[in-house]
Amino acid sequence: MTPRKIIIDTDPGQDDAVAILLALASPEDIDVLGITCVAGNVPLDLTVRNARIVCELAGKTDVKIFAGCDRPLGRALVTAEHVHGKTGLDGPVLPEPTMPIAEGHAVDFIIDMLREYAPGTVTLCPLGPLTNIATALQKAPDIASRIAKIILMGGGYFEGGNITPAAEFNIYVDPQAADIVFKSGAPIVVMPLDVTHKALVTTARNDAFRNIGSPVGIAVAEMTEFFERFDKEKYGSEGAPLHDPCVTAYLIRPDLFKGRHINVEIETESELTMGMTVADWWGVTDRAPNATFMGDLDADGFFTLLTERLARL
Ligand code: BDR
Ligand code: CA
Repeated sequence: MTPRKIIIDTDPGQDDAVAILLALASPEDIDVLGITCVAGNVPLDLTVRNARIVCELAGKTDVKIFAGCDRPLGRALVTAEHVHGKTGLDGPVLPEPTMPIAEGHAVDFIIDMLREYAPGTVTLCPLGPLTNIATALQKAPDIASRIAKIILMGGGYFEGGNITPAAEFNIYVDPQAADIVFKSGAPIVVMPLDVTHKALVTTARNDAFRNIGSPVGIAVAEMTEFFERFDKEKYGSEGAPLHDPCVTAYLIRPDLFKGRHINVEIETESELTMGMTVADWWGVTDRAPNATFMGDLDADGFFTLLTERLARL
């Protein structure tokens, strides 16, 4: 099979970093057209910096990395240094990047790629707030019908939220953007907290990363060690959840995931439940399905894939 053309839209983030590394390690499955950065876990200048650090770590300095939107559509930016540290990529000591930032705006790159390639051949992989994707859809409504799929990390149903009781971080930061994306008509696959909280890095799994012995394996082990403290303290869980790598793993092994094709709407008005993904998992409304909402993951299969692929870099 020819590799799937994707754009990774991201706010790195240690888990974003692992998602990017998995994609870059898998050229037979994934062709990364470019990486578009957005403000989220940390402000935009840092997410662009971090994406460049990750590509340099992987030895892939020819990847195009674009800067995108520096704030949500209609709200002030909320960041997550309390999870990811001051730089967003705290943990390993990695050199400041020197590879260039691509010219042009991330939103224009997304539009251009969708128009350049045949309809149904470019997949968008958002790993952060959906500001860039929604802005592209607003600016160029014709692209909606050209998108092969949007495979995104965001939301939660059974797990509730992680930034508020009701909302997951990526959707909470820009609920208006999420609303635009979920109403776009493009085919959507959602990796909510219900799945990503099953992708836990246990000590044995982290040892497997470290035992790869390469700079990538060691850096990934140090990244997850840094950001696991947050979830360990909060949930009493065994280790860090690798949220965003669920998206790139799905491109390679969709059989590792189980979900339902259902209706998902985004709360954009109530302060109490702002950014909630109202997922009709039980089919109690007659609202038309607009997303495949994942609920389960073969975690052992996921970590085996991840470790095997990261070892290639
Ligand atoms: C999501 O928010 C960010 O902190 C992570 O990178 C992930 O994309 C999890 O809620
Ligand atoms: Ca992210």
